[in-house]
Amino acid sequence: MNDSIRADFPFLQRDPTPIYFDNACMTLKPRQVIDALMEYYNDYPVCGGRSVHEAGMEVTVKVQESRDTFASTFGREPHEVIFTKNTTEAINLVAKGYPFEKGDRVLTTGYEHNSNIIPWLQMSRLKGIEVVPVPPAEDLTFDIEPFAEEISKGAAMVSVTHTSNLNGYTIPLDDVVKLAHENDVPVLVDGAQGAPHRRVDLGKCDVDLYALSVHKMLGPTGVGVLLGKEEYLTQLEALCPGGGTVTSASYSGYEPADLPDRLEGGLQDYAGIIASKAAVDYLMKVGPETIEEHERLLNTRATEGLLDIEGISIVPPADPALRAGIISFNVEGMNPHDIAILLDDIGNIMIRSGQHCVNTWFDSVSDKGITGTARASFYVYNTVEEVDIFLENMRGMTNFMGGEIA
Ligand code: ALA
Repeated sequence: MNDSIRADFPFLQRDPTPIYFDNACMTLKPRQVIDALMEYYNDYPVCGGRSVHEAGMEVTVKVQESRDTFASTFGREPHEVIFTKNTTEAINLVAKGYPFEKGDRVLTTGYEHNSNIIPWLQMSRLKGIEVVPVPPAEDLTFDIEPFAEEISKGAAMVSVTHTSNLNGYTIPLDDVVKLAHENDVPVLVDGAQGAPHRRVDLGKCDVDLYALSVHKMLGPTGVGVLLGKEEYLTQLEALCPGGGTVTSASYSGYEPADLPDRLEGGLQDYAGIIASKAAVDYLMKVGPETIEEHERLLNTRATEGLLDIEGISIVPPADPALRAGIISFNVEGMNPHDIAILLDDIGNIMIRSGQHCVNTWFDSVSDKGITGTARASFYVYNTVEEVDIFLENMRGMTNFMGGEIA
């Protein structure tokens, strides 16, 4: 499948051909998405949802088509699709807008991206909520026992990552939701690394609120989505109240509009929202199951190859089948940023290095001397040949370093 897919991505046509393994941060964009962006700017570069002229109505219809696509793809109703800037903004919308009270407990995992921990820490400071990170098992898989224990003490919300951007591990979402709902606790999921890589049916898994970033799923930058049940979305105060969020206003107050308008203040990123539909259509055409299987194939090859090289350790769990398309690793004696720079300089291979915005986890293991990792993350256009070139470069790098050290 890869040749025809790769031909759709202009970035992959550069000379020399890049090897792009930084997909957990940002995916590449196919020409279908770029064409949709250009179509907006060329053909109807105007405001949606307000103006009644023909071009304005065209934008309104296209935005609605995009909303409908997210709704049908992820198992919610169109009015339960709220466009945001990214996952971070979607989670902030909940953290700041939900009627939390002082002392309310919010449960997270022990390795959340900053997008799903800093908003809660901020609300802890501003409103006095309590943030409870539930520690993972030794191998960094989800441990249901401490989670069950914490939730039995009472919680106002569970807010957890679907798939970790640190190690690619996907939590047992059905079990988490079941336990939370048995305790009458709503569940918010950071789906930034979940939605792009597997089928997500919110109707089926019964998640109450789900946040995602379109730039991690072949879409344009600057668009995220909060998908939520109406009963929770209607309880949220707008993060950015203003134009388009009310049905009437006077100096003594205002009447919020219905969903989704009440939560989408001001003129929107119409080009991005419209082009997001092209990204979702593309992913659905390839098929989430195909994507999942392809990533597993590449990650298995990368894991086996890396573990064969002396001095390389990976962030658990060891089994690549549990780590979607992500592998975080370290080379003994090397700074992760140096690994990333060398791969880029020598092999034209792009990975990410550092703490991947999971600073709280790195802080919690600072006594083990792990200050960062190098991270390769795969997607639909990556190939087995690319993984082999990456491994060859890693072997060359570690041989050279070994030689230098010796
Ligand atoms: N969340 C993005 C990453 O993990 C920025 O790289």
